[in-house]
Amino acid sequence: MSHDLDAFMRRHEHLTGDARIDTLHEEFYALLQALREAPREQAADALLALITHTREHFAHEDDEMTSGNYPIRECHIDEHAEVMTSLVQVHERLCQDDHSALPRLVQALEDWFPGHVQHLDSALAQWLVKRRHNAQPIMLRRHAASPG
Ligand SMILES: [Fe+2]
Ligand SMILES: [Fe+2]
Repeated sequence: MSHDLDAFMRRHEHLTGDARIDTLHEEFYALLQALREAPREQAADALLALITHTREHFAHEDDEMTSGNYPIRECHIDEHAEVMTSLVQVHERLCQDDHSALPRLVQALEDWFPGHVQHLDSALAQWLVKRRHNAQPIMLRRHAASPG
């Protein structure tokens, strides 16, 4: 299924309820747009910027899932790894002046991102928000019980 990524972002359908994840996704979108619009001689740099940011983005989500023992993390982490592999492979080809795979990569990322956000990242964000919420009363009780 093909998605209109611009409309997805414009309608704020990317918002998950976790501010850090939402910011990472807005930055991802901006860097993907920059890659889409980059002239040929700047494409490798634009893709490298996207790779650097996506490493941070995926590492943040992977760390949250791993450190919090998130129950359905495996397919999510695997999907991140697959996307990173594709990004790096196309960057290697750009560095050899082979641009043939770039349009397909950009289209694949635009098709992939909304579904990933709505299915996997939203579920993770809801779980993070719920965990934060549940933790709050325990902290308050501890504070209230501590000697004064
Ligand atoms: Fe994400
Ligand atoms: Fe993700």
